[in-house]
Amino acid sequence: MNELVEKINRLRRERRAIILAHTYQTGDIQDVADFVGDSYGLSKKAAEVKDADIIVFCGVRFMAETAAVLNPGRTVIMPDEDAGCPMADMITGDQLRKFKAEHPGAPVVCYVNSTAEVKAESTVCCTSSNAVKVVQSLGDVPEILFVPDKYLGSFVERKLGRKLVLWNGFCPTHAMIRTETVLRVKAEHPQAKVMVHPECVPEVQDLADFVLSTGQMCDLVKTTEIREFIIGTEDGIMHTLRRTAPHIAFHHLSPFLRCPNMKKTTLAKIAHALETLETKITVPAGIAEASRRSIQAMLDIAGKGG
Ligand code: 13P
Ligand code: SF4
Repeated sequence: MNELVEKINRLRRERRAIILAHTYQTGDIQDVADFVGDSYGLSKKAAEVKDADIIVFCGVRFMAETAAVLNPGRTVIMPDEDAGCPMADMITGDQLRKFKAEHPGAPVVCYVNSTAEVKAESTVCCTSSNAVKVVQSLGDVPEILFVPDKYLGSFVERKLGRKLVLWNGFCPTHAMIRTETVLRVKAEHPQAKVMVHPECVPEVQDLADFVLSTGQMCDLVKTTEIREFIIGTEDGIMHTLRRTAPHIAFHHLSPFLRCPNMKKTTLAKIAHALETLETKITVPAGIAEASRRSIQAMLDIAGKGG
């Protein structure tokens, strides 16, 4: 076995640690993790951790913050504290307060790809797997603010046939996918069905057979009769999908679909984090309390009726 993996396994036992990894992490990290999932699965898992003292979070900062908020009794560490999410930084707490003041009384749905401060200012959180259900749960109110992802927001708008007031944020990695690329790769693999993430631009979503969160993609391939897919999301998921469904052929839409922040985590940094217990991710108490309310509201809605 790889020396680093042996070291991680030894330290994980000694530290009573659990390693959680997002599906966008590299294959070697997914293989060493105790749990691999999408943002929603990781939030639920982080909240449930009881038998470990330390959560090593392999993903980006907002995910580790969410784990810290949901499980204050555990120490959450990130192997690379600089792994942020540019979309999460496209709206600050101050900007959201101003946005709310311009739309008095309107509930705020915030994509989990946001800072704890933004979550603290929001009515309810969502992930890409439950955004439609969360918005629907707010009922027939005159206005709903949706931050920060305008493309996930427009996906929800089209699913529900209603307008939302969208913030102008986006994921720089997914927004790079062009319709010409989708058409070219479709022509190369005419039998394949196309799955893309709702962070893609609407024109790309329109060309896809399925618009799904990463967790939903992994669920679909467990049961489908389809034997060939083109995948329009970050390349870490290629490993997850091939491991989940080795009998299916998967083609990645573009080698440029790589999130530089998701790729900052390495096995060496995980071993170092377990050794030093750095870098600890903490959220100030007041913000943690308020953001827990909006995250818990999402978990309650998403947990209802499957
Ligand atoms: P998921 O909600 O599918 O895990 O996506 C998270 C993310 O960062 C997508 O870019
Ligand atoms: Fe953020 Fe996009 Fe990276 Fe996801 S893929 S973490 S939304 S930058």
